Amino acid sequence: MFAHRKNPLDPDAATETPEAVFLNRRKWLAAAGLGLGAAGIGGYWGWRRWRGSDEEVIAGGEVETVPVQAAAGHREGTDETPRQSLHDAFPAPRDTRFSYGRAETDRADAARYTNFYEFSSLKSTWRYVDEFQPYPWTIQVGGLCRNALKFDLDEFHGTYSDELVERQYRHRCVERWAMAVPWTGIPLARLLRDADPLPAATHVRFVSFFRPDEASQQQYTEYPWPYEEGLTIDEAMNDLTLLTTGVYGRPLLKQHGAPIRLVVPWKYGFKSIKSIDRIELIDHEPATFWSTLSPDAYPFQSNVEPHVPRPWPQDEEWMLGTNEVFPTKLYNGYADQVAGLYRA
Ligand code: MTE
Repeated sequence: MFAHRKNPLDPDAATETPEAVFLNRRKWLAAAGLGLGAAGIGGYWGWRRWRGSDEEVIAGGEVETVPVQAAAGHREGTDETPRQSLHDAFPAPRDTRFSYGRAETDRADAARYTNFYEFSSLKSTWRYVDEFQPYPWTIQVGGLCRNALKFDLDEFHGTYSDELVERQYRHRCVERWAMAVPWTGIPLARLLRDADPLPAATHVRFVSFFRPDEASQQQYTEYPWPYEEGLTIDEAMNDLTLLTTGVYGRPLLKQHGAPIRLVVPWKYGFKSIKSIDRIELIDHEPATFWSTLSPDAYPFQSNVEPHVPRPWPQDEEWMLGTNEVFPTKLYNGYADQVAGLYRA
């Protein structure tokens, strides 16, 4: 079994002090006149160094690409379809139907505080993704469908270049932190329609990569690798469910789940699986990474519901970067689009 002394997603068991908490704690200590003086200043600079500059945080996660046409053997003067380079796909046009209703999270703040357990249980996963090679990358769609698909990232961007959109979504982690981020991708429904699901397909399983040589935490069997997630087919076909290859108008950083991830904005963030290796249409509810670890705390559905402890209270959330606190909204504020999925 996958036994844990602490629940890794429990905010009270956090292994890292969020920046705002650190600064507040310092203010409180100063106000209390404890005069920590030089020791406090030294601690502050040590913490600054550990936190990393904005440039370091972003450079740490940038994906290196090879010249695509050379890699694919594309020949000048032939009929071969020119392949879309990863970077050519960005920025995509904004889908103006979506807005945050609050300030956008700063790019470096979002990139600095991430969850990616394949690399670390700390939030600064940007420090641990150096060995990860998300490019080139192949993804497969199979199972109960008439037209199984297999493509690399350049083929993906070439095929769907006219349909890539940028959407401003709110993101809510079960740990109570939240962010407001512009993702670039296509509705997952578009891809699933191309795969042509059979009527027997009731659920969709998503499986992340397994590369212990590149992701050090996968060398330990404490967790049920690879990371897996799932949706019902109706949730997967909902227009909000975005298959995502970019953020802030550029390719995904490694720590955000390069090269391709899911974004399901009305569910807790752990449903938004990163670095997807394959997608399978199936006829049953699949086991997931977190529901295997703790079925009561992280059930399959895991919609954002302010009045349901998961397992700690979920009525409030705080924003990365600014530490602003907001009341949690049912379905993370997307009830108009998804409430119909859950009416009896
Ligand atoms: N996907 C994989 N493969 N591994 C992970 O550890 N963490 C999840 C989710 N997807 C995770 C993952 C959790 S708990 C959250 S809150 C979101 O990714 C965080 O997305 P972000 O780090 O890009 O903000």
